[in-house]
Amino acid sequence: MTLQSISWQDGKLQILDQLKLPQETEYIAVKNVNDGWQVINKMQVRGAPAIAIVGCLSLAAELAEAKSTYNEKAQLHKDVSSKLEYLVSARPTAVNMKKAAEELSNVSKSLCEKSISLQDMVKSIISWCEKMLEDDVNTNKKIGKFGAEAIISSNEGNSSVQVITHCNTGSLATAGYGTALGVIRALHDMGHLNKAFCTETRPYNQGARLTAYELVYEKIPSVLICDSMGAALMNSQKIHAVVVGADRVTRNGDTANKIGTYQLAVCAKHHNIPFYVCAPTTSIDLSLAHGKDIPIEERPHKEMTDVAGTRIAAPGISCWNPAFDVTPAELITGIVTELGVLKPSELFKKLQDN
Ligand code: MRU
Repeated sequence: MTLQSISWQDGKLQILDQLKLPQETEYIAVKNVNDGWQVINKMQVRGAPAIAIVGCLSLAAELAEAKSTYNEKAQLHKDVSSKLEYLVSARPTAVNMKKAAEELSNVSKSLCEKSISLQDMVKSIISWCEKMLEDDVNTNKKIGKFGAEAIISSNEGNSSVQVITHCNTGSLATAGYGTALGVIRALHDMGHLNKAFCTETRPYNQGARLTAYELVYEKIPSVLICDSMGAALMNSQKIHAVVVGADRVTRNGDTANKIGTYQLAVCAKHHNIPFYVCAPTTSIDLSLAHGKDIPIEERPHKEMTDVAGTRIAAPGISCWNPAFDVTPAELITGIVTELGVLKPSELFKKLQDN
């Protein structure tokens, strides 16, 4: 059985509380949009695709519960749109929730204009949200396959590659399988993985707590390193690729991802190691020209100064805690999407044509 971060059954949504992992495996109920906003903002669920799926399913759960509280379709549409807008505000950097909100709001508008009943409109909105789960897993499997094939073929079929990954991009960050972790999973399944190195990913420790947990759970050979060890590792061992996820990729291929991604990309360039961003097309924001236009979330200082509730930083020190950084397109070898592996320069045309 693979890990499941999102559980949706008969109109009820539960998420695995990622603040408690790896010590405790506790699912919590998300009954409505307010709960959805809270669990996303507090990072009880995180990862760009999972944020969008949980956000939309929190709306679906609320609608499933309150089917009869609307009198007319226009009222439902207005409420759905404003709730979606609210969900987008929970975390600003990942674009997936914003894109899902725009799409679902359009779906709701066209359902509103169709000659269907209010009940059928509710049902269709819920089904749209439910379908995100299946679509995400299918997309991730394609990303896994394309990414693994690209890494194997650029290493002349080497049957024993070593890769570095950052943050958590696995089953916990998606509906299942994962993006960059999906590539690692596919390499392992194909018998081509010697080892995956995962960074600790300070300050929230997604790598040490979540990726390490997934890798151990899946019995994938892996080693944990501190964020500061990437360059030394690249200098001392053969690393065949760096694979990371994305929270938002702009038109030119610049990529916002977990803080620390940029320094890995700089080090990979220096050591001539291919650097792959693995992300569904739902993480690509064609409305922004450059990475400098991406809003970068800053998180509470406590996430840096305290570990497991105990302050470790000297009292009185100021902090800077951006949750993401932007890797410029020129440092990216390929963007692995469900459409294939694209060079940053090919991204815009490929997506426009699709
Ligand atoms: O702050 P987080 O944990 O939500 O950040 C997650 C990442 O940066 C991931 O790499 C990204 O969302 C892709 S998850 C498939």
